[in-house]
Order: sequence, then structure tokens, then C-alpha cells
Amino acid sequence: MRTPLIAGNWKMHKTIAQSERFISGLLPLLYAADGVEVGICVPFTNLQAMVDSTRGSRVEVYAQNMHEAPEGAFTGEISAAMLSEIDVHGVVLGHSERREYFNETDAALAEKLLAARNAGLAAILCVGETEQQRADGQTEAVLAHQLDRDLALIDAEALAALVIAYEPIWAIGTGAVATADQAQAACAFVRSRVAAIDAAAAESVRVLYGGSVKTDNAAELLSLPDVDGALVGGASLEPESFAAIVGAAAT
Ligand code: PGA
Repeated sequence: MRTPLIAGNWKMHKTIAQSERFISGLLPLLYAADGVEVGICVPFTNLQAMVDSTRGSRVEVYAQNMHEAPEGAFTGEISAAMLSEIDVHGVVLGHSERREYFNETDAALAEKLLAARNAGLAAILCVGETEQQRADGQTEAVLAHQLDRDLALIDAEALAALVIAYEPIWAIGTGAVATADQAQAACAFVRSRVAAIDAAAAESVRVLYGGSVKTDNAAELLSLPDVDGALVGGASLEPESFAAIVGAAAT
């Protein structure tokens, strides 16, 4: 049995003061939600404050990126060791916004997954196709291309512990959520691609759906057999909507 994960991706939103208000609002709303893991993916400057404010709670704190090198002359970058030193739980890697606007490459992502694993950080790897790629019937080819390269360096143990978020780019921030059939087919394909590397890992790897997940569509998406949770952008910015999505995943 895979424990569902609901992870909120704040992107470049919230100062520390705003994050503290969010957490004070969120924690009381989560008490009743059993059988679900909860994560928040926050800007670098909020990591320490959120690690401190969530200590002893069920909320896990994730960074939204990191560099693959252990250290070096990479001005403006953050290493895996810097994240694990302050008790950050994990890191989101390869979000489509990073691939599109910051030239994130699959080669770097393979190195980043290995660096996260060596530092004891959980990882959420994002993959997904553009609207044009889907229209051209290229969805599976794109996912296969990303997964085969991104997963090239990690071992089966790290693969089994990994979280992979399938996020169709056309559904991110647009309100155009994937249909249940589209989400299930793509998440099943992601799992099958993991199975081609290691069959046992495919049973435990968690595959999330992301892209316009809201309180009114979460239950249907989370009921799909190959969807083990959600990566939530816009609806994770308010405690009430985020807690409602967590509730939809709870047992
Ligand atoms: P959205 O973002 O829920 O606002 O569509 C999802 C994401 O980018 O992870």
C-alpha cells in the first residue's frame, strides 16, 4: 500500500510572515486527516522558519530546487548538504517552470536526484508534456524521454522511495485540469516506465498528478488507481483549500 502524498508548491509566493500565518491556519485543520502525508514546497528563504514551525507536526518541508554539485563556484545556488543541514525533508526537482525558464536539463536532473539521495533528501521529480506535444500524440514519448534520462543514475532503492509528479504543462495554473482518463493513463505510463527499470520499485514509487488540482476535482483524481497524491500549486496558498485537498486523500 502506498501512502498518498499531498504536496503544496508555493512557487515564488509568501514571505516568512505570510508563511507563518499559513502554518498557524493549516495545522489545526489537519488533525483529522489520517493516512496521508503532507508536504509544503517553499521558497529558500522560508525553509528554516517552516522547518521550525512544523516540527512535531505531520507537515514535511521541501525546497523547490537545488544544485547537483556538493559545493563550488555556483553563485546563487544551494546544495543538498545545505538543505539537509537545516532538516529540510526533501526537494522538488525538474518542475516545468524550471525546465522552461531556467534551462533545467535532464542531465542535470539525473545528477540532482543522485545528490538528493546521497544527502538523505526525499525527492519529487516532475515530468509532463506541453499542449502541442499532447496534440501531436507525443505524450508518452516525452514522458519516456524525461524519465529515462532523469532516472539514469539512481539505484533501485532510491527509485522505490522516489515521488514522481506527472504534471501536464497545459494544466498548470490554467484551470484546465486533465480528465480522469488522461491523468490515469499518464500516471500508469510513468509507473510502467519505472517498472521497466525495476519492477519492485514501481510498486512503491508514488506517482502524483499535478495541474489545476482544486477542492472540487481532487477527490476524483485521487481515487484513480495509479494516482498516489497531488502536487498542488494555486490551491495550496490558502490553508482552507489545501486542507480540503488533504482531506480528500485521507482515509
Ligand atoms: P497549479 O500548479 O495547481 O496552480 O496548476 C501545479 C504545479 O505547478 O505544481
